[in-house]
Amino acid sequence: MGMPTVYTTAHVLSSVISAAKKTGDVGFVPTMGALHEGHLSLVQKALEQNSLVVVSIFVNPTQFNNASDLSNYPRTLNTDLELMSVFDRVIVYAPGVEDIYPEHDFFEPIDLGELDMRLEGAFRPGHFQGVVHVVRNLFHIVQPHRAYFGEKDFQQLAVIRRMVKLLNFSIEIISCPTYRSVNGLALSSRNMRLTHQGRAEALIISETLNYMKGLDHDHPPSKVMELGHAHFSKGKLTLEYLEIVDAESLMKLTDEWSDHAVCCIAAYCEDVRLIDNLAM
Ligand code: PAJ
Repeated sequence: MGMPTVYTTAHVLSSVISAAKKTGDVGFVPTMGALHEGHLSLVQKALEQNSLVVVSIFVNPTQFNNASDLSNYPRTLNTDLELMSVFDRVIVYAPGVEDIYPEHDFFEPIDLGELDMRLEGAFRPGHFQGVVHVVRNLFHIVQPHRAYFGEKDFQQLAVIRRMVKLLNFSIEIISCPTYRSVNGLALSSRNMRLTHQGRAEALIISETLNYMKGLDHDHPPSKVMELGHAHFSKGKLTLEYLEIVDAESLMKLTDEWSDHAVCCIAAYCEDVRLIDNLAM
């Protein structure tokens, strides 16, 4: 163990990975750094299923639709590396922008259909195409057997699965459950920007989701959403959306429940945009 080896260029990383593939499987955990227990749970899962795990740390400019969100995004590379040092068999890829987006890079937006129109897509224009662009380029560089993504970013997982299908990647996408603090708050790098009080106020997010999950499902989804909105408004956060959707189509459910209904929420707490979701 000890500090993980950090690679900053694709060509050196690729040769290390090619060599490793001769003796075992390679797992990949893409991140934007400011690592926390949620990220670590992905790494742990990847270590169970592969002999080498690549963790990328890259704050991707193309997925930020807001310049101040990009400049305020936490960057804590040294702490990130220390967190990784508890793991054996993990290497870190921390490239610069030129490495991920070389001059000859060509990207044609893919058809995300309704995935890009609803929920996050509706409020963050261009965000998911930016995610697709960076993950596509990372997949070309790392070429892992498996890649790990958190259910915390529920819609991102759906987008990645669609990309893998449309672009014919032979990479297995593994989803990992949302990691929460004991009081229910979903861990997020953005939580680092909250004050102590903000972290307490942000609990209304998971409280509302749990409250809605606990309501009698004889009520139609529209009623559960109405009660959820009322519950949420007892807190101090500014709501962007709170919607029950079908987990596959992302269509909003109103009169009838579907087999896999999920409630998705986005809200601002102290100017920090937080998202969460819970299967109903
Ligand atoms: P980032 O927000 O750093 O998240 C990296 C991965 O960790 C994502 O798959 C995310 O869903 C997962 N994750 C974050 N918080 C989690 C939690 N509390 N529990 C479980 N998993 C969690 O998502 C991104 O970066 C970027 O969009 C990326 C995919 C790296 C492309 O730039």
